[in-house]
Amino acid sequence: MAEAALDRLTPEQLIAAGTPLTRLYIEAAPGSGKTTVSAYRFGVQRFALASDPRAVVAVSFTRSATAELRARVRSTWGRAAINPPHRIVTLDTVVYDLLAHLLHTNKLRWPGGHTELEVLDTWKAHYPTRYTTREPVVELEGRQIVTAHTYRHAKGNHLGQHDFETAVNDGQCTHDNVRAILEQALSVPDITGCLIDYFATTTRALIVDEIFDANSLDLAVVELAAQAGLHITVVGDPWQALYGFRGARPDLVPTLIERAEMATLQLTASFRWRTSHQEDLATALRRSEPTTVPSAVLDGVDVVLAREWKPLWNTDPRVLPLAFRSASGNTQEAASTLLLNRLTRSAFGEHATYVTDAAATLRLDEDARARLEPRLDAILARLADKEDLTGTLADLTAAIATESSARIPGKHPSQIERLRQLRTRLLHPFDDLILGLTTHQAKGREWDAVAVRFEASDTRALHVGLDRDNEDHRKLYVALTRARRRSLAV
Ligand SMILES: Nc1ncnc2c1ncn2[C@@H]1O[C@H](COP(=O)(O)OP(=O)(O)OP(=O)(O)O)[C@@H](O)[C@H]1O
Ligand SMILES: [Mg+2]
Repeated sequence: MAEAALDRLTPEQLIAAGTPLTRLYIEAAPGSGKTTVSAYRFGVQRFALASDPRAVVAVSFTRSATAELRARVRSTWGRAAINPPHRIVTLDTVVYDLLAHLLHTNKLRWPGGHTELEVLDTWKAHYPTRYTTREPVVELEGRQIVTAHTYRHAKGNHLGQHDFETAVNDGQCTHDNVRAILEQALSVPDITGCLIDYFATTTRALIVDEIFDANSLDLAVVELAAQAGLHITVVGDPWQALYGFRGARPDLVPTLIERAEMATLQLTASFRWRTSHQEDLATALRRSEPTTVPSAVLDGVDVVLAREWKPLWNTDPRVLPLAFRSASGNTQEAASTLLLNRLTRSAFGEHATYVTDAAATLRLDEDARARLEPRLDAILARLADKEDLTGTLADLTAAIATESSARIPGKHPSQIERLRQLRTRLLHPFDDLILGLTTHQAKGREWDAVAVRFEASDTRALHVGLDRDNEDHRKLYVALTRARRRSLAV
């Protein structure tokens, strides 16, 4: 299978996929095959030295981008390509593995002596939180990890100190906690050495897709891997850096490339565009030339993109977004997310984005979720059948209560509103529903026809030409380069 598919790569893609260069940076525009080449390179490195027992690891930053890369490797090389120890994971997973190694080898000690941790995406899906500037944190005191607290400039949803200490003592933490500890640990010289040894003995190659989403700790981890002598490939497009709000440092990528002495290869041809119109649009955007995007009706559109989830719900009743908003830990919202998930599974075969958080908020395990499915389907049928939102809400709350110990407050305007939104979608045949995603979730993916929800500022930006140094402009750029055939504004 792999051999036949290899015929398709262009000479420059083949070189990028197969070059024996040990430090490589592949920079290219959307649709030029960055992820395709990453997937090929994974297989090349994976099957090249069968006698080397060490892992080939490919990473990306979000779950959706990582899933995309994994799917490409599987279809190019077959499932066996990712048999352990080889793997395709988020960089967060690699960061956790480094901390776990330090705990296993007793270089660092976690409260309660844990050497394996349960790492949560956020506390708020699991514990009650308060909206406050006081955030409980973990810190390094010598070799011992301890709990403490700090005051942030901006308020956030944070655990109370007592709950935090109990959770940490039980071996729970968030990815942010893991990152904080590793960041502090990296300033301890023998720890750096220990991690370099760990990389050198366990891993032979590291491939990083979407490198411009990396923050300074991620970049430090890649640099450690380079110091350990691993084959390193980093892949990305500076025009597609979207995670400034989460601390990404696209500005530091050139420093990594220089310090690790990486050779740069470019991929110059793009394969995504199937119409001259889409090709012209992509070219004009990247050259910062003034341009416009036609607005049109949604018929025939495969996906609608917006910066946030909320505007997607107000775009058109046929647009079914994969989330109401990012998980907040609210039990009512979690209940409606379970309902949404049944609908997105039926309509698109995709899970609601935060369904795992919702299940955690409602303290539902796999079995409880499976038992709830037919009841949720019956509630959806009722919701489609008659406009009794209050009655349906009571049904939903009662159904969840049969499996969940979490308290779900009664009727609430925003809960009724979510059911109303779901009902408007249920009034359309599934075939008419259109997938709604945020630009972040759509990154790295492609469809034939993509509608982009425009703000007034987007139209103005296109009018003068996009500025690569402006993150909002880059978001617009990513959204407008997802379509193979046509992009349109709504
Ligand atoms: N040599 C080729 N011939 C034909 N199609 C190709 C070739 N290389 C890549 N493609 C196709 O082009 C499309 C874009 O490729 P890919 O997603 O790898 O690009 P990318 O550079 O990672 O894009 P993005 O910047 O959006 O992440 C995919 O459908 C892929 O299968
Ligand atoms: Mg890609």
